[in-house]
Amino acid sequence: MTLPRATILGLGAYAPPKVLTNEDLARMVDTNDEWITKRTGIKRRHIAGPDQSTSDLALIAAQQALDAARVRAQDLDLVVVGTATPDMFFPATACLLQDRLGASRAGAFDLLAACSSFVYALICTSQLIAAGAISRALVVGAETLSRLIDWDDRRTCVLIGDGAGAAVLGPSTGAHGMYGGLVGADGSAGDVLKVPAGGSRMPITVDAIERKLHRAYMDGQAVFKLAVRTIPGLIQKTVAQAGWTMDQVDLIVPHQANLRIIEALASQMDIPLERFVVNIEEYGNTSAASVPLALYEAVQSGRIHDGDRIVLAAFGGGFTYAACAWVWGS
Ligand code: ACO
Repeated sequence: MTLPRATILGLGAYAPPKVLTNEDLARMVDTNDEWITKRTGIKRRHIAGPDQSTSDLALIAAQQALDAARVRAQDLDLVVVGTATPDMFFPATACLLQDRLGASRAGAFDLLAACSSFVYALICTSQLIAAGAISRALVVGAETLSRLIDWDDRRTCVLIGDGAGAAVLGPSTGAHGMYGGLVGADGSAGDVLKVPAGGSRMPITVDAIERKLHRAYMDGQAVFKLAVRTIPGLIQKTVAQAGWTMDQVDLIVPHQANLRIIEALASQMDIPLERFVVNIEEYGNTSAASVPLALYEAVQSGRIHDGDRIVLAAFGGGFTYAACAWVWGS
């Protein structure tokens, strides 16, 4: 029996309407548009309203993806939400989403690999489809990082934005689908990006809140170096696993953390920047939502065509990294 290859049947994306510009931030902390643009490439970011949680963002992107795929929620076998900012510790945001979609037949769980969560979830879910264990799945990357950030800390608050992206997966009937997928981690670098308080190691106390330990801490330069050291080799290995050469890759959709990181990847891999999707100017770093948001926009704008060979690549807290290679189409 030949097992099917998983392919993406439909995509969806959502960014909250509230926009925070660099000029807005310059009125909140000691920063300016020139510094943010030059160091990061970010101009604006979308921020969830007070009544919007991660599952609210995920729901809109998921419904769009289901419509695009022409798949009914009740036909889903699995719902996976990649997020570091769940609605609650538990139940999982995927369970909340499963209920709100009416995906009553589906199993549901969250996957936490920080900014790599969506790509991790896409790879794992595709393997379940390829193994014949499930047929239809919804994979979402959704975040409200604005809730974790210290809005007085100019080193981190200028970087992030909120959003969601979703993909409906199913078995491919032709040559489309996922040809290679690799996940990895370096837990020894866990300290470079973390939220120290709120878990079992350091429950939230008044003292923890006063010391802002429930907010995201980041060693920006360390994250930068880890990304540039890890991602070129990861992409090359993933492309080799797919049986392709780098010249055959039409487009790379990288995690949108910093334009300078994407430029450094392009230069190290000797690939023109035009073959990378970049939309960081509009959204900032939306963590798990960044790759599906960029993929969605690239497909919508006609940059990705049926039969194109594309690579998705992400990195984030953990330190985690993941990449997968697709022939686009269903
Ligand atoms: N506005 C103005 N000045 C600033 C700002 C700001 N928003 N932030 C930092 N500075 C200052 C610093 O205080 C420092 O001043 P000093 O020299 O007087 O000490 C100076 O600018 C240079 O700071 P660096 O940290 O050396 O700047 P760098 O060029 O490394 O850029 C950045 C910082 C943008 C964070 C970069 O390291 C980066 O993008 N790293 C990757 C981040 C990332 O991918 N994070 C992933 C997840 S994001 C999250 O989850 C929070």
